[in-house]
Amino acid sequence: MARLRAANDERRSAPPVFLAPAGSFHGKLIGTVQFTHNPGYRTPFSALAAQVRFVPLDEPEALERTVEEERRTLLDLAVGDGVVRVVERDLPVVGAFVLEPIQGEAGIRPLDPEAVRRIQAVCARIDCPIIVDEVQSGMGRSGAFFASSHLGLQGDYFTLAKSLGGGVAKAGLTLVRSSRYRRDFELVHSSTFAKDSFSTLIAGRTVDLLEADGGRAYRLAEERGARLTELLDGLRQEFGDVVKDVRGRGLMLGVEFHDQSDSPSEIIREQAAAGLLGYLFSGYLLRVHDVRAFPTASATGTLRIEPSIHLTDEEIAQTVSALRALAATLRKHDGETLLHGHA
Ligand SMILES: Cc1ncc(COP(=O)(O)O)c(C=O)c1O
Repeated sequence: MARLRAANDERRSAPPVFLAPAGSFHGKLIGTVQFTHNPGYRTPFSALAAQVRFVPLDEPEALERTVEEERRTLLDLAVGDGVVRVVERDLPVVGAFVLEPIQGEAGIRPLDPEAVRRIQAVCARIDCPIIVDEVQSGMGRSGAFFASSHLGLQGDYFTLAKSLGGGVAKAGLTLVRSSRYRRDFELVHSSTFAKDSFSTLIAGRTVDLLEADGGRAYRLAEERGARLTELLDGLRQEFGDVVKDVRGRGLMLGVEFHDQSDSPSEIIREQAAAGLLGYLFSGYLLRVHDVRAFPTASATGTLRIEPSIHLTDEEIAQTVSALRALAATLRKHDGETLLHGHA
């Protein structure tokens, strides 16, 4: 009995493991940096926080395999037919599955609905909560308040931030499904900045504005995004040798460029090898065309296009013509103009 208890104590004391899709980005705070796949951000802090396993969602078996590999049991005694036997009982060890409905920093990659269905099924089976990080994709940017609603994704926890503060306050929040909510949590885990009334008031007002006029803001994000996507798709067809893909939803769009590490231009080659291609492009777009775009942090060959819902037809035309000029310059391998060009 003592040996059984000691074995169980050891099994129970091992830390929980968390799961996240490969490529995930969940910020750089100490509690979340281990959920950010990019080793450049994660590795220096790997000893300090949660253990995370990254699941390649393009491999249908990967999630089941990972859950099986992490399976832990406790020993118990069962009596039957007058015999006492040692049996194993499952010990829940997966703390949560954390995901972004549209992976932002991985290059604006909407999750595959089939992968989402698998995640929901496996998580329901092992009673693993799903944390939906809507910090970048939420607040209407995708054409719906939650990007996860396009996928029919049922989360247990949702995170929001960025425009939640209406451009005035710094605000972030976590929504908890009532069946998972523990009243004690907010009493015990209070914080200096938590429940800040000023940002809460602004966040409430921001949500009112999004919901106003039957959700006009969402319709604008959808409509402006569709217009922009149509033109960007045209650009991809025209410059297929340079533009690899156009992805996203609503006004959360990404334009991925082909790898340039064998470009005849030394400037372009060097920037590509250093993972700085997207920075070279965004510098050119700002200096020469007055268009602000930025590469995604963990996939720097993709430019993110995440404008305001008040984007005008003229601004869409300006954006697309700037990207056309960029693609034409790249096609000519004109690194000099990309690095030093001015309007
Ligand atoms: C998906 C996602 N989650 C979380 C964050 C927050 O990151 P941090 O906590 O480092 O501000 C970001 C920031 O861009 C994000 O894109």
